[in-house]
Amino acid sequence: MKERTLSIIKPDGVARSLIGEVIKRFEQAGFKIVAMKMVHMTKKEAEGFYAVHKERPFFESLTIFMSSGPAVVMVLEAEDVIAGNRELMGATNYKEAAEGTIRSEFATDIEKNVVHGSDSPETAAFEIAYFFNALELVGGS
Ligand code: RTP
Ligand code: MG
Repeated sequence: MKERTLSIIKPDGVARSLIGEVIKRFEQAGFKIVAMKMVHMTKKEAEGFYAVHKERPFFESLTIFMSSGPAVVMVLEAEDVIAGNRELMGATNYKEAAEGTIRSEFATDIEKNVVHGSDSPETAAFEIAYFFNALELVGGS
């Protein structure tokens, strides 16, 4: 079934000029980009986005990082794109990420791991609506 996911090229990926590299991988995987923009989140906006992690020890550092510079937010559409995107990204910890994945090739740190991807249909719905309204989703087929 076709589904949608939210992808973010995190501030480290944008600062290191990896936007094209990441988007190329999405397009080669057959993911359609149905919405895209650059955002420089405030600390509060990053805290709202990662609210599920607010009790985690890394929450403060993560939200400082995510609000440290511009990021690219995208909605990707394809069959099983939530799992497919997480497969392309690789494990959270780049040292454990499978060879050839984005995080394995480009991440420099467990936190500065270049990309974000939704992890379930429920989080995808929340995360897409966090950045885009219905008129900004163009329909990918
Ligand atoms: P994401 O949400 O960004 O797609 O990453 P993920 O599902 O693979 O990992 P998650 O557990 O949701 O963690 C969110 C982000 O927090 C940072 N992190 N730091 N210092 C640490 O131990 C630690 N653990 C996670 C990473 O930037 C991770 O992607
Ligand atoms: Mg996550």
